[in-house]
Amino acid sequence: METKAMPAFRKTAETFASGAKTLPQRYFVSPEVFAEEREKIFSRQWVLVGHLSQIPKAGDYLVQEVAGDSLIVLRDKDAVVRGFYNVCRHRGTRLKEDACGHAAAIQCPYHAWTYGLDGKLTCAPHMDDVPGFDKAEYSLHAVNLALWEGFIFVNLAATRDASTERGGYIPLEKWFAPLAGKFSHWNMSILRSAKRIEYDVRANWKLMFENYSECYHCPGVHPMLSKVSPYDSAENDLCEGPFLGGFMSITKGAGLTMSGRACALPVGGTNAADSQRVFYYSIFPNMLLSLHPEYVMVHQLWPQSPERTLILCDWFFHPDAAGASNPSYNPDDAIEFWDITNKQDWHVCELSQQGIVSRAYQPGPYSPRESIPAAWDREYLRQMT
Ligand code: FES
Ligand SMILES: [Fe+2]
Repeated sequence: METKAMPAFRKTAETFASGAKTLPQRYFVSPEVFAEEREKIFSRQWVLVGHLSQIPKAGDYLVQEVAGDSLIVLRDKDAVVRGFYNVCRHRGTRLKEDACGHAAAIQCPYHAWTYGLDGKLTCAPHMDDVPGFDKAEYSLHAVNLALWEGFIFVNLAATRDASTERGGYIPLEKWFAPLAGKFSHWNMSILRSAKRIEYDVRANWKLMFENYSECYHCPGVHPMLSKVSPYDSAENDLCEGPFLGGFMSITKGAGLTMSGRACALPVGGTNAADSQRVFYYSIFPNMLLSLHPEYVMVHQLWPQSPERTLILCDWFFHPDAAGASNPSYNPDDAIEFWDITNKQDWHVCELSQQGIVSRAYQPGPYSPRESIPAAWDREYLRQMT
């Protein structure tokens, strides 16, 4: 029987394509490039909008703007997760204004047209007087939505231009095939967020991806992190394409926490080797996935303008981790550690942005320790063509 070989992990410098340079200035400042990214990337790719644990019950919903469009993502009566454009079928009014909530139905605040959680129009006052009006023709516009390991992704492509080859979308299972089964033992679909922190960063969204993809900066920028995870320990198994990353070692007996110890029970059946590793993967175009033995940290990146990005960071733990029998459970120990580390990263990203806008800026050479940011740039440019 043929067995599928596990992809090998390779040291960061081994996959470096020599001659790689940072992107030209326009990619970080130009409104035209920003508009192009919205059309070619954020309107066509699978984009992370949340996790199942954010909408656990029927009627729970969240609202998220994707590529300039407001979307409602909800749990319907049969527990199915669905997505709709936040646009009334009467006169187009925005239906839900709050970021999240609970509702038995979706009622428009203007003339009270009411939609079921399945998107069907159930009530439209006085419209029965209109000859030929058929409620069945005025359901909410649905959004392409799919789940991966408990995370909710949407894709706007089909509703934009399904008829052309360029406007179509790749089914989520096919898109995520390189990651199939890779993270199953982290049990991500049942984890729950213990905390979310929002960061408003004055830097282009690509700088955060590039920053996340290397630890060349760690000794100077993150002295605390460098103590528990050697900056030169990175090995990657995904080195080209929309998913990039691998692991870094955790010093024996240490944890990525303020106390330096593990702060909860392991999230899943991680094996002995994994208990000494933290895995970092960037998932194009808006997810950073950091898998620790006892928690999973996820960043969502939402570009606001060429020079501003909103970042949502969640810390996920096993739902049983908080039980009375687990006195070691202390999520703040990890959250504080990463909040400090995140801010150190955002600060250098902001400094980069400030320098890149200068007339003196020119693309600079990546070091061999930056093979992954260079690969990320290549994938970005492929998607922009
Ligand atoms: S615009 Fe929604 S009911 Fe009129
Ligand atoms: Fe960093």
